[in-house]
Amino acid sequence: MKTQLFKKDFITTQDWSVDELQTMIDVGLKLKADFAMGAPQDHILRAKTLYMLFFEESTRTRNSFETGMTQLGGHAIYLTPKATQVGHGENARDTGKVLGSYGNAIAVRDCRTGIGQKYLYEMAKHAPVPIYSMQDDVDHPNQAMADLMTMQELFGRNLRGRKFVISWTYAPKYVRPLSVPQSLLMLMPRFGLDVTLVYPKGYHLMPEIMEIARKNAEAAGVKLEETHDMDAAFADADFLYPKSWGPIMVTEEEAEVEAMAAQHEDWRVTQERMKLAKKHAVYMHCMPIDRGHEADDEVIDGPQSVIYQQAENRLHIQKALMALTMGGRW
Ligand code: CP
Repeated sequence: MKTQLFKKDFITTQDWSVDELQTMIDVGLKLKADFAMGAPQDHILRAKTLYMLFFEESTRTRNSFETGMTQLGGHAIYLTPKATQVGHGENARDTGKVLGSYGNAIAVRDCRTGIGQKYLYEMAKHAPVPIYSMQDDVDHPNQAMADLMTMQELFGRNLRGRKFVISWTYAPKYVRPLSVPQSLLMLMPRFGLDVTLVYPKGYHLMPEIMEIARKNAEAAGVKLEETHDMDAAFADADFLYPKSWGPIMVTEEEAEVEAMAAQHEDWRVTQERMKLAKKHAVYMHCMPIDRGHEADDEVIDGPQSVIYQQAENRLHIQKALMALTMGGRW
């Protein structure tokens, strides 16, 4: 178990070793069990402060981080560009240095294409405290780790040889970032999973992320396949992670996005499609789900769905991250 993680940034799982990531899951499982038993946790981050800067809205991420800080004895402060001088152009360096001189960690959600993750790394270069990604244009590491924690709870720690499918699905309006599929694509091969990525033409991911994922798969000795056939991809899967993302590598222009998506309304998860996977396969989604477009209610609310367990595990995995990087014996 690698526990020397004090002050370590968490902007992408790529910056952490497999052992360090497994430590985060193991601590998350312990905190989850202790919380269920009512064991005291409010000494772990007593009087410590997390700043949460959101460039975009959130239900799960904001509330799981904020609640996690309360449960560990600390305090979280919700910030937006409008509520701070960030909106008037104060840069990442100045914001990070100042907030870092008051509190103990800074978490940022910034999904602006070509800007978000760079902003986080710039802040991390100058802030004296750890920086966490709460989702950016490239990665959503806390989501991917909550998902992996859920998978280990369901199928055990050894996931080698299991098939994990990341599938594009139809959603009519909102242009979702590439960060969730990309975070899964990079992380899952490192934990022994064979990964299949399936999407209609035009919805490809960032080439540099594909390259990282291929290298991860090669190093781990697992398969990484890319296809445009949703039904073929679903065959024999253990984990199905179908979700919408925008054609960001092609366009973010609203009318073009809508026109492109409209050609693929049949990319929806139905009970019939679920039957193509293994009998024990689970349906996963980071939420929010566009019900009736991305998937049918009978799948989302059906016995194979683990979406609420994933959402709950956001709390426990982030508490582990904060305890390991802000607290501990230091
Ligand atoms: N999955 C996720 O990050 O949800 P929110 O956008 O509600 O935070």
